[in-house]
Amino acid sequence: MNLQKLETTANAMVVSGKGILAMDESSPTAAKRLRAVGVESTAENRAAYRTLLLGTPGLGEYISGAILYDETIRQRTTDDGSAFPELMRRQGIIIGIKVDGGAKDLAGHPGEKVTEGLDGLRERLAEYADFGAQFCKWRAVITIGQELPTRACIEANAHALARYAMLCQEADMVPIVEPEVLIDGDHSIERCYDVTLETQRAVFEQLYRQGVAFSGMVLKPSMVISGKGAARRAPVEQVAEQTLRCLRNTVPAAVPGIAFLSGGQSDEEATAHLNTMNLMAKNLQLPWRLTFSYARALQQVTLATWKGEAGNVEAARKVLLHRARLNALASSGSYDQAMEKQAA
Ligand code: G3H
Repeated sequence: MNLQKLETTANAMVVSGKGILAMDESSPTAAKRLRAVGVESTAENRAAYRTLLLGTPGLGEYISGAILYDETIRQRTTDDGSAFPELMRRQGIIIGIKVDGGAKDLAGHPGEKVTEGLDGLRERLAEYADFGAQFCKWRAVITIGQELPTRACIEANAHALARYAMLCQEADMVPIVEPEVLIDGDHSIERCYDVTLETQRAVFEQLYRQGVAFSGMVLKPSMVISGKGAARRAPVEQVAEQTLRCLRNTVPAAVPGIAFLSGGQSDEEATAHLNTMNLMAKNLQLPWRLTFSYARALQQVTLATWKGEAGNVEAARKVLLHRARLNALASSGSYDQAMEKQAA
C-alpha cells in the first residue's frame, strides 16, 4: 500500500471548494431515471447523457472527482468519441468507479439488504486502475423500520465495507466508504441519529480491524434527518447539528474528508444542509473537510432540463454547473439561498 499516494488522492477528492459528482447509476437505476424524463435507456442514450454531464465546460472548477459505472469507464463520448476517462483527464476530474455489486436481500432478515461484490474484486480493481481509476465506491444500505435495523445487518454491511476498503487500499485506490441510512419511512430525527451512530461505530470498528488507513479513505454518509414520511420534519439547523454531533462521535480525526450523499433530499435541502454544517464547523475546529458526493441533488434538475433532446444540452449543462457551483459554495459555508435565482 502506497499511503502517500492514497493520502494525496483522498485530499484532492475533498479539496476545499469542490465536491464529487456521483454518476454511477447501475443500468437498472439509470433506466428508471431516464424513463422518468421520457428517454429510452439504450447504451447510446446513457452515453449521450453522460457526455452531457462530463463534457460540461468548466465542470472541473467545482467537481474534484466523478464516480462512473462499469459501463461508462469502457464507453466513448457521443460527441468526439473520446474515452470517458480521457474526457475526465481533460476536465481535471479524478476518475472514480463504483465497484459494489448492489444491495441484495439479506438471508434470514426480511426487509434488510447486504451489499455484495467482494468475489473477484481484487482483479476488477486492477482492471479499473488500468483505465485510470484512482478511487472507488461501495454503498451499503441500512433500513429504519419497526425492529430494524438488526445488529446482524449492520455488522454484515460494516464487515463487507471494511473488506472492500482494504482491497482498494492494497491496490492504491482510495475507498469511498458509504453506509447509507435510508430516508424512507416515517421515523424521527432522533431515531435516525441512534441508527446512524450505531452504524458508523460498527463501520469504523471493522475498518480498524481490517487495517484500513483512515488517512487514505473518504466517508460518504447520509445526513441525520427525519424520515421522508415523518409527521414533523426536523429543520435545517437541527439536521446540521445532529449530523455533526454524530460524526464527531464516530469519525477518526485522521479521515481527510466527509462527502455526503443526498439520499432523496430536494436539491435545495441538500445544499442548505451542507452549507449550514460548514457554517457551524467554523466554531468547532473539525478535523475533516465536509463536502458533497451527490447524484440526485446534482442530476435531477439536469435530467429534467435535458429530456433526451440535443437542443437542450446547453441549458442542461448550465443548470448542472449552477448546482455544482452552489454546492461547492456550500462546502465552505458561503452559499446563500438568494443565489438559487442567479443564472449559472
Ligand atoms: O450511492 C449513492 C450515490 O452515490 C449518491 O446518490 O446523492 O442520489 O443519494 P444520492
